[in-house]
Amino acid sequence: MQAIILAKTGDAGNLKIKKVDDPKPAKNEVLIRHSAIGVNFFDIAYRKGQYKVDSLPTILGSEGCGIIEAVGPGVTDFKVGDRVAYATGPIGSYAEKRVIHQHHLVVPPSTLSDIQVAGSLMKGLTAHALLHRVYIATRAKKILVHAAAGGVGHILCQWAKALGIEVIGTVSSDEKIIPARGFGCAHVINYKEKNFVEEVAKITNHGGVGLVYDSVGHDTLEKSLECLWPMGMCVSFGESSGKTEKLNLDHLVANSLYLTRPTMAMYKANRIELALSANEVFAALNQGIIKPQITVFNFKDFKKAHETIENRKNIGSIVLKF
Ligand SMILES: NC(=O)c1ccc[n+]([C@@H]2O[C@H](COP(=O)([O-])OP(=O)(O)OC[C@H]3O[C@@H](n4cnc5c(N)ncnc54)[C@H](OP(=O)(O)O)[C@@H]3O)[C@@H](O)[C@H]2O)c1
Repeated sequence: MQAIILAKTGDAGNLKIKKVDDPKPAKNEVLIRHSAIGVNFFDIAYRKGQYKVDSLPTILGSEGCGIIEAVGPGVTDFKVGDRVAYATGPIGSYAEKRVIHQHHLVVPPSTLSDIQVAGSLMKGLTAHALLHRVYIATRAKKILVHAAAGGVGHILCQWAKALGIEVIGTVSSDEKIIPARGFGCAHVINYKEKNFVEEVAKITNHGGVGLVYDSVGHDTLEKSLECLWPMGMCVSFGESSGKTEKLNLDHLVANSLYLTRPTMAMYKANRIELALSANEVFAALNQGIIKPQITVFNFKDFKKAHETIENRKNIGSIVLKF
């Protein structure tokens, strides 16, 4: 099979397509032939060495959709020919085929295409955890979402709006303002041009928001706390601009704030919770509550896909297709 191999961390040029042997499913594993692979920002973080891989060379990618081609011993709930998807297991999806433990598999409905599934499962499960599990978002009424036109951002904003929440979104360029409005933001701030703390204060008559979803980290996190009303919640779920090395807890004291750093995979580690949440994501897609915007690249154009995300040019999700 063909696989995209990372032998050394660095820029997108370090990803090389190679022929390798098909993997064989071990106990409780299935072999999936991918039809579509979701590309996520943290694939870039792994590629650059910001997030650590267990060893090199390796195959990146955490999300895919396809057909089961073989099953290992102990697999009882799935069989050859089943259409499945996953977004919680270990890395290894940037390949024609991969093996993965059956625990991570979900079954997408036939109403959704493989590209829709690969473009929204990871982001949808993350939005589900953020809106429904980490904190009951509807309590907040007004929320701030950074990188509102990005992969997770565009799904999170659409779902939050459908829940009756007023969403303030941030984006880094004027080209993303109209799309972000289309994704449900009542207000959009270009945080490269404007001070988003001051803008949020203006929009909320100095009342602040009840909840901030911050996936940007270094460039925004401290300031995000300044946007909250007393006892408000800051959910830091990513570090697209880099790590926040030191956060002084004094930032929380003045307004008795909450701060949490969740990972979707941990929230969805339980098999029943994963199946229930995936079904809620699929239902939201079927009902049009979430309409993912997906840019599709051919598998061999993986470098372009990486560069698009790295250069902050993507609006919505990116998928590699075969
Ligand atoms: N905790 C979890 O379990 C979990 C799960 C999934 C994703 N995540 C995190 O959620 C975030 C969004 O993931 P995604 O895959 O949907 O990515 P994405 O939002 O499509 O891309 C990242 C976005 O971050 C913004 N950004 C701000 N500073 C940046 C910088 N210095 N370099 C590049 N981008 C920058 C950009 O939006 P603007 O140009 O508009 O600023 C960019 O579009 C990532 O941080 C990811 O690691 C976390």
